[in-house]
Amino acid sequence: MEELQSLILSTLDKENTIPDTGKLTNAEGKQPDQLALYAALNSLALKEMIVYDALESEIWTLTAEGKEMANTGSYEVKVFEAIPSGETGISISELQGLLGEAAKIGQGKAFKNKWITKKDNRLFRAVESVVDQTRLDLEAISTTKTHPDKKVLAELKRRKLCDKIKLVSYSVSKGPKFSLTIENGEWKSAQFKKYNFDALGVPPSGGHLHPLMKVREEFRQIFLEMGFEEMPTNRFVESSFWNFDALFQPQQHPARDAHDTFFLKDPARSTKFPAGYLERVKRVHSVGGYGSIGYGYDWQIAEAEKLILRTHTTAVSSAMLYKLANQEEFRPAKYFSIDRVFRNESVDATHLAEFHQIEGVIADKGLTLGDLIGFMNTFFGKMGVKDLRFKPAYNPYTEPSMEIFSYHYGLKKWVEIGNSGMFRPEMLEPMGLDPDVRVIAWGLGLERPTMIKYGIDNIRELLGHKVNLAMIQIH
Ligand code: PHE
Repeated sequence: MEELQSLILSTLDKENTIPDTGKLTNAEGKQPDQLALYAALNSLALKEMIVYDALESEIWTLTAEGKEMANTGSYEVKVFEAIPSGETGISISELQGLLGEAAKIGQGKAFKNKWITKKDNRLFRAVESVVDQTRLDLEAISTTKTHPDKKVLAELKRRKLCDKIKLVSYSVSKGPKFSLTIENGEWKSAQFKKYNFDALGVPPSGGHLHPLMKVREEFRQIFLEMGFEEMPTNRFVESSFWNFDALFQPQQHPARDAHDTFFLKDPARSTKFPAGYLERVKRVHSVGGYGSIGYGYDWQIAEAEKLILRTHTTAVSSAMLYKLANQEEFRPAKYFSIDRVFRNESVDATHLAEFHQIEGVIADKGLTLGDLIGFMNTFFGKMGVKDLRFKPAYNPYTEPSMEIFSYHYGLKKWVEIGNSGMFRPEMLEPMGLDPDVRVIAWGLGLERPTMIKYGIDNIRELLGHKVNLAMIQIH
C-alpha cells in the first residue's frame, strides 16, 4: 500500500501527470493490483495530495480458441492444406478423420472464400495458394488489443475467437497538497485543541430492555402486589420425574416423546429423588391410590430419570409443592414464575422451540373451582382483560381443567389466553399434602400478549437468532 502510494507520488514528481494508470508499472515491471491501486489513489486524494479521474476503455482479447488459432492457423486454411493439390482431392470423411471438429467449420469458410470445390463427396483445391487472413487478424488483435476494422472484430467475436473487455484505469495529477512524503510535518506547526477532561462524551445508546422482559416485569408486578412469591426457575434442565411423573403424566404420554421433548445426551440421567415419594409416585401411576385406580401400567424408574429441557414451568411448581408438603406445618402459599421452556416444535411464524411461560399456583385448604374462576377474573382484570370465558379442557395433572378465553375486539373473536385447573389428588397426596389442601394453578405464554401489545406478528422477530436489535431499541 505504502509502496504503491510512493510509486504514484514519485511518478508524478518526475512526470507531473500520470495520463493512464493502466500503463503504470512498479520497479519489477509489474502492473499494480487494481483494488490496491484504487485504495492508494483514494487515500492520497483524501489528503488532497493528488486528484484523479476514472478512464474507461475497451480492449479486445483472444478467447482460448482464438489463441490456438493465432498459433496454429485457421480452420479454413487447415482444410485447404489437408487437400492435396492436383486431381486426387480428399473424401469428406477422410478430412473429418484428419481434422475432427475443425473440418466442418473450415469447409464452410473455405467454400465461402472459393478456395475449394466439391465433386462426388470429394473436395478439391480451387486455387493455387491462400493467405490466412483470419490468423493475421487474430495476431493483430493479440498484439494491439484491437483491430482497425470494426467488421473484423464483430465477425471474430461472433465466431467466439475474441471478446471485448472493459477496463477502468485512472488519470492522475498533483493535488493542492502534493508532496513526495505522505507525512509532511504539518503537525509541528498545527494548533491542537486542549483536552477537555470535563466533557461528558456521547451518551451510550445501549441498555434497552427487550419487550419480553418489559411485559414480564408488568406481570411480575401484578403477582407481587397480589402477594405471590417468585419460584426459582433457574433449572432449564429438569428430570422427567419432576416435569412429568410427579405431575401424574403417564410414561407413554405422547408429550414425553422425543418429537415433543428435548432429551439430554450428556449427562442423560438424574438419579437423586426422594425415595419414599418416588415409591408413592410409582404406585399411583401403576396401581392407583388416594381414591384413584391409576393408569395400570408398568412404571419404570429409567423413564423418570431421563434429563430433559423442561417443557413447562409446572415442573418447578411440582418441586415447590413437594417442598411445601414437607414443611412441618402446612401454611397456604401463592407462587408464580415467568421463565423459559422448551419444546421440540417445528419453528414457524407462531411457534418457537423455546418460549416463556407465566405460571401461578395457589395452595390452601378448601379452595374450589369458584375460587379459580374468581381469581382468574381478578388476575386478568389487572391486565385490562375482562369478560373471560372458561372451557372444559384436559391436563393429566388437573381435574377439572379449563382453558381461559377472552374476547378480542380487534379480531372479533374469542381467543385462548391461558390454561388452568385444580391439581389432582393423584399428584398432591403422594407429595404428602393433606387431602383437604386444594391447589389451583394456571399457565399462559408470555410471547402472545407481548406480540399483541407491540404489534409484532411474527414470533421470530421477537425471539431467537433473527431478532433485529433495533426492534428492541424502538419498543
Ligand atoms: N403446564 C400447562 C401448559 O404447559 C399450563 C398449566 C399450568 C395448566 C398449571 C394447568 C395448571 O400449558
